[in-house]
Amino acid sequence: MSVQLDAAGRLRHLLTLDGLPAPIVLGLLERARGFVHTPQARAPRGRQLEGRTVVNLFLEPSTRTRVSFELAARRLGADVVNIEGAAASTVKGETLLDTVYTLQSMRTDFFVIRTAESGAPASVAERVAADVSVVSGGESHLSHPTQGLLDALTIVQRKPDVDRLVVCIVGDIAHSRVARSAGQVLRTLGVRELRLVAPPELMPDDAEFPGAVRCLELDAGLADADVVMALRIQKERMATAEIPDRAAYRERYGLTGKRLRSARRDAIVMHPGPMNRDVEIESDVADGPQSVIRTQVANGVAVRMAVLLALAEHASAR
Ligand code: CP
Repeated sequence: MSVQLDAAGRLRHLLTLDGLPAPIVLGLLERARGFVHTPQARAPRGRQLEGRTVVNLFLEPSTRTRVSFELAARRLGADVVNIEGAAASTVKGETLLDTVYTLQSMRTDFFVIRTAESGAPASVAERVAADVSVVSGGESHLSHPTQGLLDALTIVQRKPDVDRLVVCIVGDIAHSRVARSAGQVLRTLGVRELRLVAPPELMPDDAEFPGAVRCLELDAGLADADVVMALRIQKERMATAEIPDRAAYRERYGLTGKRLRSARRDAIVMHPGPMNRDVEIESDVADGPQSVIRTQVANGVAVRMAVLLALAEHASAR
């Protein structure tokens, strides 16, 4: 955790929301609000990152996170390099750290790393040069901090009194970095109640999500909820034998319009994407009036602009 902040308490790297001080979280959300715009308006732009280079090093697939980091960096004037999966020299046996050192020699300022390897972003952060920052773009099942921030921003835009909210997360929580980062940031923001809904085999260990209420049945988890977040089954993190039967899962845990009526009438529906329509979420719910899924995507760019700017301040202050 300490690796994330510099000696002056500024954000140096962003690897996890676990233990990230509330003033930093609130500062990032406030800064991100400044980049939110209506769908009709031109996207805000600046030159604050002119002369800086952002490398998106994505060793797992991504659409939203990768593209929104690229747009965020370009809209702030940075140079951007994207290296994805099979295009990375890691597939030829080069270590992630050697790849990072190679790119650092070409004067990279920010590394955004997505990896299935637990601990890899922190390991890189501990070894990069003093003026280089590392951001997790998603780390195994453990952490997806910018997703957690964009989810928090989306919630507070619609429902600012977080201490009054009941938030229900339903799906494959055991394998979900999105759920972990959401749980961490909501705890920091003082959420009234966090409910986790999943079958026993997809429920996280008891030691995780302190204070959360666990429900095996979706109707119980949805009762009077203000926010409902559906998650997909993370097949890529399961052995074939563990993958639940699709129809049985949909029957018991799929978020349908009928089920959503158990939540508050003004409840918002979230999904981090990618969605499996008509499995974990009914298509009509995903596209319905309570859905804020597209707002989440739009907020992703704003949050990533805020994060890159905050990290640039650390480097400028050195
Ligand atoms: N939510 C999310 O991380 O989506 P991508 O995998 O498309 O980046």
